Amino acid sequence: MDLPLNLAEYEELARQTMPRTHFDYFGGAAADGITARENRRAFEDLALRYRVFADVGDRDLSITLFGRKLDWPVAIAPMAFQQLAHPQAEIATVKAAGRTGTLFVASTMATTSLEDIAAAATGPCWFQLYVYRDRSFTKALVERAEAVGYEALMVTADTPVLGRREQDMRNRFHIPPGVRIKNLEGTPFASFGLDDGGEYTGARYMLASLDPSLTWKDLEWLCSITRLPVIVKGVVRGDDAEQAMKCGAGGIAVSNHGGRQLDSAIATLRALPDVVQGVAGRGEVLVDGGVRRGTDIVKALALGAKAVLLGRPVIWGLATGGEDGVARLLGLLREEFDTALALCGCKSVDRVTRDLIA
Ligand SMILES: Cc1cc2nc3c(=O)[nH]c(=O)nc-3n(C[C@H](O)[C@H](O)[C@H](O)COP(=O)(O)O)c2cc1C
Repeated sequence: MDLPLNLAEYEELARQTMPRTHFDYFGGAAADGITARENRRAFEDLALRYRVFADVGDRDLSITLFGRKLDWPVAIAPMAFQQLAHPQAEIATVKAAGRTGTLFVASTMATTSLEDIAAAATGPCWFQLYVYRDRSFTKALVERAEAVGYEALMVTADTPVLGRREQDMRNRFHIPPGVRIKNLEGTPFASFGLDDGGEYTGARYMLASLDPSLTWKDLEWLCSITRLPVIVKGVVRGDDAEQAMKCGAGGIAVSNHGGRQLDSAIATLRALPDVVQGVAGRGEVLVDGGVRRGTDIVKALALGAKAVLLGRPVIWGLATGGEDGVARLLGLLREEFDTALALCGCKSVDRVTRDLIA
């Protein structure tokens, strides 16, 4: 097959090359996959009212997020277990992020330690945090992330329990003994295996480690123990966004975990305007779920997002080409975004406004 020309072709190539169990884990969704499909449909349903004669000869894709200039408004979403996609795992991904000027968000459940990721990084990184039942361990993770230069914390709010991942149950998905969740070494949660009966343990694993009784008080606590901005990931409602800002959050990532948690959850693009209203300019708003084209980025920005996060496609680049694969995939998306800006009559990102949406 020729080199992929777009993100969908990368997915197809990954499907052909990856072990089925791993492809299903990375690409899968909760239950019937309704939300995962709706995330895409919400983008497809919007049409763009492009401008003409708008002097787009010299375009600027950059943005500023929490005072930091970024080359373009895309971040790599936090994703667990990248070693299952490629032996170089998160190291390959973070290097590709640096090469393409893309913000990298490291998952708590990475197969590389947050320190090793930071040491390999050549650009800005954020750390995605799960709040563990053991709060002193959670606090230690925050301190570790601060110590090695992560610039923000993204706390995941949409995972009080694990969504119903039926493909993973069927496939008896697990990570082999040689692969470790490196940030969790020294706890009982550094491996993700099968139980004694050979059955999938995902839901039990999450319930044993993460705290489903979290409240807004816990967000206040988290904001109080760090000097970094805290972005709450997994919010789809304006009232929740408003509450998060009151608790001291620096921003919101509108997300439904790529449709991997609550199936039938609202599509993120449809939730975005309400969340933007809830935040009311007091912080930054990002969105993820189903971003696959440069025009999707334009649509998200037009509806009020400052940047988007890209999930599964990054894994397809990693699995099919390691660091170069991720860099090439991000390069394709960047070209698409640049073309979309030009064709929309936008010389720069701040020219992307609500009136572009039909
Ligand atoms: C394989 C995989 C692993 C993920 N692991 C995490 C994680 O550890 N923490 C987290 O907050 N979100 C995790 N997510 C959710 C992503 O950060 C993101 O919200 C989602 O993938 C975006 O949707 P997209 O894949 O359609 O782009 C994961 C998603 C995938 C596909």
